[in-house]
Amino acid sequence: MKESIYPPAEDSYLLNRVLEQELPHLLKENPCLKFLEIGCGSGIQLQKAFSLGVKKENILAADINPEAVLHCRTLGFKCVLSDLFENVGGRFDLIVFNPPYLPDDKREPLFSKLATTGGTLGGEVITKFLAQARAHLNSGGKIFLISSTLTRGITWGEWKKEKLLELNLFFEKLIAWKLEL
Ligand SMILES: C[S@@+](CC[C@H](N)C(=O)[O-])C[C@H]1O[C@@H](n2cnc3c(N)ncnc32)[C@H](O)[C@@H]1O
Repeated sequence: MKESIYPPAEDSYLLNRVLEQELPHLLKENPCLKFLEIGCGSGIQLQKAFSLGVKKENILAADINPEAVLHCRTLGFKCVLSDLFENVGGRFDLIVFNPPYLPDDKREPLFSKLATTGGTLGGEVITKFLAQARAHLNSGGKIFLISSTLTRGITWGEWKKEKLLELNLFFEKLIAWKLEL
């Protein structure tokens, strides 16, 4: 895998656990569930969704990193090069995002910032995502989103949020959210 593609880490495994916990119920209610991942990276969430029973034709992925897009296409997934929802058409029942959520750190190399740094405060990419997501969710649709206790400045707006899982790390706690309107 190319160096610029985010290798699965604790946040990836946390979102993977959320999918294992939540997707079976969602698929029971709706076997044709339409699944979108923003920021697909290595494709770890796409593979989990597929292995849990989401039909391949109902999975769409997007990433701002062209190497991640090519990589996920080689895994057999439909994937578009897109800044958040810019090139995403249609509506989905579930949207997942393990976003760049950390505040800017001048010591971090530029090549990895795209995957980790959400802006000066850390929450800027999430705030943009939340403002755009409504137009891409079916009625009753849900979002699974990761953030950290280091993330500042998220504008949650109208989203109702519920903590699904937490993971304590050395310097921070990761939180997996379920968001609904
Ligand atoms: C923390 S990584 C997560 C990768 C993978 N989903 C996982 O769970 O391991 C964040 C991903 O979001 C992508 N990304 C960052 N900003 C983005 C944006 N504005 N639009 C789409 N993707 C973005 C990065 O390229 C990276 O692949």
